[in-house]
Amino acid sequence: MSVHKNVKRVTTNVLLEMKQNGEKISMLTGYDFSMARIIDQAGIDVILVGDSASNVMAGHETTLPITLDQMIYHASSVVRAVERALIVVDMPFGSYQGNSKEALSNAIRIMKESGGHAVKLEGGQEIIESIKRILTAGIPVMGHLGLTPQSIYKFGTYVVRAKEEDEAKLLIEDAKALEAAGCFAIVLEKIPAKLAQQVAKSLTIPIIGIGAGGGVDGQVLVVHDMLGINNEFSPRFLRKYNNLFEQMMTSFQDYIKDVKTGDFPNENEQY
Ligand code: KIV
Repeated sequence: MSVHKNVKRVTTNVLLEMKQNGEKISMLTGYDFSMARIIDQAGIDVILVGDSASNVMAGHETTLPITLDQMIYHASSVVRAVERALIVVDMPFGSYQGNSKEALSNAIRIMKESGGHAVKLEGGQEIIESIKRILTAGIPVMGHLGLTPQSIYKFGTYVVRAKEEDEAKLLIEDAKALEAAGCFAIVLEKIPAKLAQQVAKSLTIPIIGIGAGGGVDGQVLVVHDMLGINNEFSPRFLRKYNNLFEQMMTSFQDYIKDVKTGDFPNENEQY
């Protein structure tokens, strides 16, 4: 029997049961009330208030500039819209790496001020102290390994990670450390499909992939990317379910034309 179809509210336990039951987990990013409401009503399992808001909402080149206050603003907008999905909120760059006490107080701010259900942190054994401390407050933590965009200046590029044996070995160790610390799930971004499958098979917690192949327990995409709003972004892993760039462009151009020609508003569109 399907686990996810029968739940009124998705929890971390539901995700674990879905993995045990062999049911794939669906996850999309969401940053605002109107979009999150549609995503939730469509039946998504998890909404990630990603720090990719820094790119797609604010127009920054990287995820580094977004602040804790801005993440809380986006997350609280999503929380007001959602009735069913589990809401995971990214901890932004600089809010958890240096000091585990600060990490805990920042995670508490996210939970208290946004009403989100869990936080996500990028990194492995180097941030384990922060993860363990956040968990002491009863805050569920999702991990994120592979291509971790907050470290883009260390990597230098957004190419596939962990292709070499050394990095793949480290990734497996990191994933095991995150599970042992108590993370409820891990995102694996842009790594070879075979490696991602190996991690998903060897861990009991759900593994959600983005650019990590089909052998994992679920998939996540950035909502603006899968809707085709940004027509300049087409990595191999991205399946576009729409071409909203074209559709929105046509709608805006039609509106402008109608206003300029006086066609809008017509007699039925006025009082
Ligand atoms: O911020 C984000 O959108 C993410 C996903 C790419 C997993 O972390």
